[in-house]
Amino acid sequence: MEKKYKLNNVTDTLNFAKKFGSNLKKGDVIVLSGELGSGKTKFVEGVLTYFDLENEISSPTFTIVNEYSYKDFPIYHFDVYRLENEDEFYAIGGEEYFDNGLCLIEWGEIISSALPKEYIHIYFEKDDSDENVRILNIQTFGKRFDKYII
Ligand SMILES: Nc1ncnc2c1ncn2[C@@H]1O[C@H](COP(=O)(O)OP(=O)(O)O)[C@@H](O)[C@H]1O
Ligand SMILES: [Mg+2]
Repeated sequence: MEKKYKLNNVTDTLNFAKKFGSNLKKGDVIVLSGELGSGKTKFVEGVLTYFDLENEISSPTFTIVNEYSYKDFPIYHFDVYRLENEDEFYAIGGEEYFDNGLCLIEWGEIISSALPKEYIHIYFEKDDSDENVRILNIQTFGKRFDKYII
């Protein structure tokens, strides 16, 4: 299933992500793609807001993965931009995160063959005519996710 959304500004993105976050559970994997500055980290911030963790957000750019403790399960925020390929992801034990918690993976397409069969892919696009607009294209791989994007 595939769906497109237009988000008019940062607040829109944060609100949308918070609502999207309310569906997410342990074992879910969300891949976030799109050029630098397209809003991937902002979206993660919005998701963390749903879990009351928004004050803790920091960019994982230099650490590959940041872990947040939500009461029911851990939340892992990856930025795999600096990984060459899947092998480097396996080397850091990346796969073991998938079942343990909720995974949000910026630049996840770099490790596409390491991803579980079922996941959600969100593509972020800027809009040439307005610097505050973002177009989100959400694609679900796995029936259980279809109800997340109604
Ligand atoms: N609608 C929007 N949604 C998200 N970010 C936006 C939006 N409009 C402007 N921005 C700005 O774009 C930047 C997005 O940065 P960031 O989320 O770090 O991008 P990425 O993680 O994709 O590199 C932020 O500075 C944010 O304020
Ligand atoms: Mg980012």
